[in-house]
Order: sequence, then structure tokens, then C-alpha cells
Amino acid sequence: MRKAVWKTLTFEEELKQKTEEIEEILYSYLPKEEGYPRTVISAMNYSMKAGGKRIRPIFMNETYRLFGGKGREIEPFLAAMEMIHTYSLVHDDLEAMDNDEFRRGRKTTHVVYGEGMAVLAGDGLLNMAYETALKAFRIKGADQERVIRAMEILTEKAGLYGMLGGQAVDVDLEAKRQSVSEEELTYIHEKKTGALIQSSMMIGAVLAGVSAKILERVERMALLIGTAFQIEDDILDVVGDEHLLGKPVGSDEKNHKVTYVTLYGLEQAGEDARRMSEEALEIYDGFRVKNDFLRGLIESLIGRDR
Ligand code: IPE
Ligand code: IPE
Ligand code: MG
Ligand code: MG
Ligand code: MG
Repeated sequence: MRKAVWKTLTFEEELKQKTEEIEEILYSYLPKEEGYPRTVISAMNYSMKAGGKRIRPIFMNETYRLFGGKGREIEPFLAAMEMIHTYSLVHDDLEAMDNDEFRRGRKTTHVVYGEGMAVLAGDGLLNMAYETALKAFRIKGADQERVIRAMEILTEKAGLYGMLGGQAVDVDLEAKRQSVSEEELTYIHEKKTGALIQSSMMIGAVLAGVSAKILERVERMALLIGTAFQIEDDILDVVGDEHLLGKPVGSDEKNHKVTYVTLYGLEQAGEDARRMSEEALEIYDGFRVKNDFLRGLIESLIGRDR
């Protein structure tokens, strides 16, 4: 009889494996580069295939597993989430916004394809995200009510009262410089970055069938994780390594942005991000279910270097 060989994966190995699994799903939903619009399709795929941490679909999938989800109706949502996030980056890097030339270790989309094509590639990804998520309705065994609720979360958290709203206030206040208040900065962080992390974890939870009460706790936990994630991003813009990050440091300073670091200083920013992550972990520990990898992932983002 053959002996089973058990090898315990380290957190890093497990993360790598899960990232690859997610990428395989993402790639299966990308459009084929053919026909007259092939340039815009190529621009869409250029940014999607550039890599990135894939943290949002990983959060979605792990939250789904945490609450006992076992189906495949999550798959279109995993792809849709990364499309929305990637579109937000393509537009965020445009000259009219942060004017950055590197992203995910490559030249940004507008540098390679031109501004008009980058605007359209972003729009294309957003539209494709909704086309993709809708495919969940047709997956065998999918609970239609849960898929409707997941669609509502996906669309709301990406829009005016979510990521887009946060980005709009970020642009609006960039011109005001010094006069940005703590409340305004909190709003920007919670919306531009918090909203998509919330959306990811909430969709995972909803598709797994959690109660309204649990969903509320997931929403609060993810807000803390998302806000801490943006604080760390602001810190990395000052002290990060461009090669590890795959994007330029000093972008915020160049744009005279008021960030968590300019408002509170590096040390307090780091402390606050840690405190928020610990509060998120307390909420996590209150759930009666467990997913050690997910807990490790939340912890690993504290003081991250990429
Ligand atoms: C960058 O997001 C933009 C923020 C909201 C901070 P990520 O740090 O997740 O970027 P990728 O997907 O890994 O490139
Ligand atoms: C952008 O925040 C968040 C988005 C919604 C794209 P930043 O402008 O700080 O993100 P990076 O640093 O360019 O990734
Ligand atoms: Mg920005
Ligand atoms: Mg930016
Ligand atoms: Mg940044």
C-alpha cells in the first residue's frame, strides 16, 4: 500500500498556490483578442495579466470557504471583482488623475496604449465585470436569491456610494491640499479602498448563505481591513521599495496629496493600521467557524512590504 505523504505548506506556499488558482479562473473569463475592437481588448488584458496580489478575489473566496461555501457560482464574482479593481487602477494612473507610469511592474496602460484607449479599457473592464458576474445565475445549483444580493453588493460598493465616490472625493480634495480634514480623509479611505474589500468579503459571505447579523459583522471587519490596507499603501508610498511594489513611490508627494502619513506621521499611521487590523481579527475570532489561512492573510497585511 502506498503511504500518503503529508507536507504542510507554509503560509507563503499556500498563498502562492491560491493566487495561481484564482488567476486560472480570472484568465478563463478574459475576452479573446480578436475582431475590430481587438486593441481595446488587448489593453484590458494587458492590465489584467500584469499580475498584482489578487487580494480581493482571495478574500472573497476565503470568506466563502469560511462560511461553508462549496459551489462554483463564486467563480464569476471572483473574476468580476478583479476586473473592477483593475479598471480602478487603470483610471487612477491616468494623467488626469495620479499620472503614474508604472503599475504591477509594467508601464501603465495609458503609456502603452494611449490615453483614449486606457479610458476605454477601464470602461471595458467595468462593463465586462457585470457581464461576467451575471453568469453566476446560470451556474448549476446557484441560489438565485443569494446571487441577486451579491450583484447588489458588487454594484453598490463599486459605485457612487463606494469606490467611485471615494476616488471622486480624492480628486476633489487634491486641489484643496492642506485643508483636508480627518473626517474627509476617513471618508476617502473607507470608500476608495474599503468598499471593494467589503464587497469582496460580503459577496463571499452572502453566497455562502450567512445571516443578516453575520453579514453586518463581516462588513465592519472588512471596513477595518480595507482602511488599514490604504493606510499601509500611504506608508509604502513614502518608505516602500518600487521593485517590490511594482509601482512608483512618492506618487502622493508628487501630487501634493493629503494622506494618512501627511496628516498623522509615519509612526502613528503604522500604529493605527495595526490597531485596526487587530480589531478586525477580534471580529474574526468571534465567528464560530474557522479558516486559518484567512486569519493568517489578515495578519500578514500588517506592516506589509508590497
Ligand atoms: C492598490 O491595490 C490600490 C489600493 C487600493 C491601495 P493593491 O495593492 O491591491 O494592488 P494590486 O492589485 O496588488 O496591484
Ligand atoms: C487608489 O489609491 C485607490 C483606488 C481606488 C484605485 P492610490 O492612488 O493611493 O492607489 P495607488 O497607490 O496608485 O495604487
Ligand atoms: Mg489615487
Ligand atoms: Mg494612485
Ligand atoms: Mg497609493
